[in-house]
Amino acid sequence: MKVCVLGAAGGIGQPLSLLLKLQLPAGSQLSLYDVAPFTPGVAVDLSHIPTDVSVRGFVGDDVEAAMAGADIVVIPAGVPRKPGMTRDDLFNMNAGIVKKLVAAGAKACPNACFAIVTNPVNSTVPIAAEVLKSAGVYDKRKLFGVTTLDVIRSQTFVADLKGKSCDDVNVNVIGGHSGVTILPLLSSVPGVELSQDEIESLTLRIQEAGTEVVEAKAGAGSATLSMAQAATRFTLSLVVAMNGESVVECCYVQTGDATSSFHAQPVKLGKNGVDSIPALPALSDYEQKLLDQMRDTLEANISKGLEYANA
Ligand code: LAC
Repeated sequence: MKVCVLGAAGGIGQPLSLLLKLQLPAGSQLSLYDVAPFTPGVAVDLSHIPTDVSVRGFVGDDVEAAMAGADIVVIPAGVPRKPGMTRDDLFNMNAGIVKKLVAAGAKACPNACFAIVTNPVNSTVPIAAEVLKSAGVYDKRKLFGVTTLDVIRSQTFVADLKGKSCDDVNVNVIGGHSGVTILPLLSSVPGVELSQDEIESLTLRIQEAGTEVVEAKAGAGSATLSMAQAATRFTLSLVVAMNGESVVECCYVQTGDATSSFHAQPVKLGKNGVDSIPALPALSDYEQKLLDQMRDTLEANISKGLEYANA
């Protein structure tokens, strides 16, 4: 399996590359690209860790060389939020980065699975879809927005509140990856009973958890370490699935026939990316209300991406 990380020298990219170097199956190749001139140095640094994963670094114009033959491309490249910013405020900076990188991927590894971390994910994933479509290589089974950070945050917060081991808590999160579009399904966490008050305060905390990190970092960026762990979990699940063992992960994928139909929900992953999308678990009235209320925001985020890509 060849995994390529684009933005590998950044705040998320470095810990993500480290975690992948430590956890990818023996024999995997890790290919690191970033615009930062020291990226080959990050690769040399990681290459001294004794695991059977080879590492190469690429910089500058070598983005296609980095991606050549990749099975999975993970994209955390872009700028992070500062206090007071929403993820949507990053659109102008990050939309162009994703467009350019995915266009290079359409040439270098048209059959790869693309996992987008770059915010605003609700919009950058539809941009990636349009870029791949216009290159004639779009396969909706192979494009993902990584929403795993919402899942692991939910897992941590529920375990903390209920005094449980994190290993015993599994929460589905649906919708998208910003503010009101993040909807943790707290009424159906196996083995966990939460009161309506607990559900409402946890929902708000999970929706605002990214902002909690942005504020705590006070101008130095957003979540990097937990995001790296989330992207690692998602990438490793994809590796397992592509090797033939099916896995379910919540992620943001095209759920209908049109690229205007992106939605995060539990997805069964298989050899070719999305294997199938199971029906949503039963929602409580409160969850259904939040799902109905987020629709306009999510649709606007998607349209913004589609319009940008097609302009
Ligand atoms: C967060 C950012 C990385 O959720 O989207 O913290």
